[in-house]
Amino acid sequence: MKITKQYICQSCGSIHMKWNGKCEQCNEWNSLIEETTNKSTGPLSRSKGRIINFELLNTETKDHPRLKTNLEEMDRVMGGGFVLGSATLIGGDPGIGKSTLLLQLTGYFSKINQNCLYISGEESLSQVKMRSDRLGLKNTNIQFASITNANDIAHTIKTINKKSILIIDSIQTMYLPQIESAPGTVSQVRACANELIMAAKASDSILILIGHVTKDGSIAGPRILEHMVDTVLYFEGDNHFQYRVLRSIKNRFGPTNEIGVFEMLSNGLRQIVNPSELFLSDRKKNVSGSAIFAGLEGTRPILIEVQALVTPSTLPSPRRTIVGWDIARLSMLCAVLEARCKIHLSSMDIFLNIAGGLKISEPAADLAVAAALISSVRNIPLSFSSVYFGEVGLTGEIRKVPQPELRIKEAYKLGFDKITLPSKQKVTIKEDLSYVNITLLSDLVNLITKNV
Ligand code: TYD
Ligand code: MG
Repeated sequence: MKITKQYICQSCGSIHMKWNGKCEQCNEWNSLIEETTNKSTGPLSRSKGRIINFELLNTETKDHPRLKTNLEEMDRVMGGGFVLGSATLIGGDPGIGKSTLLLQLTGYFSKINQNCLYISGEESLSQVKMRSDRLGLKNTNIQFASITNANDIAHTIKTINKKSILIIDSIQTMYLPQIESAPGTVSQVRACANELIMAAKASDSILILIGHVTKDGSIAGPRILEHMVDTVLYFEGDNHFQYRVLRSIKNRFGPTNEIGVFEMLSNGLRQIVNPSELFLSDRKKNVSGSAIFAGLEGTRPILIEVQALVTPSTLPSPRRTIVGWDIARLSMLCAVLEARCKIHLSSMDIFLNIAGGLKISEPAADLAVAAALISSVRNIPLSFSSVYFGEVGLTGEIRKVPQPELRIKEAYKLGFDKITLPSKQKVTIKEDLSYVNITLLSDLVNLITKNV
């Protein structure tokens, strides 16, 4: 057996023969770590292959059997429940509530008589027991083990050979003794995940891996981990807020970019079935700089308050402080307001906040952000029952956005009756709503400042 030394980039997973301060593949600094691998066969060793059998793609196959949870929010994110024989990876900042969410979930699954195995490499039995008591899971039969050897886990799963719910908390703490690198390194994470996924799939079990995230917010370890599993979820939120958002990034069995909203309480996570109400609950009347965006997260409409504060700056390069939105997008919007609408912002400090700690990535939020900025700079409160959506182009034109009807229905449901939207947008909902069609950004400025 030949033992070779390699340096593996912990960020992109590329292999280097020599140590270097910077990975030449992904340009990350200080990411190369020495790992030893046992190579019994070289990459070019020739083994004779077998003939493979092809099957017709149009033969009838059964739908993937799914296991629904008691949380509507969770099921939506998963595309209608957990698929048997699938592997899911959940990433998120420390302390965000990953372990809590999964313990609650196993609590439910064990109540409906599923075989639930919770394996923690991070916490001891007494710690997890304390959490489970707090969650009110006293009379469940979740089986717990505090262990980090992935070989033993895989062997046990294969021996039990029973459809189970298997939680691994976390994949970065697992190790395979035959690999010499430390737990959490690329080779360990990759090999352990592979071993566990194979074992779980063989018994049609549902495998859920918890993953740590790096400081830039992606799941630690190689990207390859995300390719190996069927579903990747991120559990995000701000520690200062109670709200947590579960977002699907990849899903082989359902749509992506769906979100589920939860609230962290003293006895665990509670789902929030109607988040719009929650995000709008602290809104004040007659204040300038606040606009409601009728947004869309996956298939679900959400109303979100955009708050802007524009004040004269004393700094040579004015401040742009932004929470929950994209700074590049704000710069673009300011440039368009400045160049096409003569709204002077270059000597102003701009603070922009998406209320409730949510992050918006949709370009459809442009119109609402623009409305909040104009309202703040001119100190004119917007109509309390208005919502805004539309994308702003560089020439100041307002572009169409997807799913206007879903957005409008949600706004109507929550008592908004004035919809400001791109004039090109075709909508068929009549109801008793008034529509304000906007062709150019300057129309919005006129609407707010001169009420025309
Ligand atoms: P945890 O699930 O341990 O986070 P993670 O596994 O993502 O690191 O959650 C930790 C936080 O949640 C901790 O700060 C305490 C808080 N918490 C509650 O507020 N209520 C609860 O019922 C529980 C179990 C935890
Ligand atoms: Mg944890």
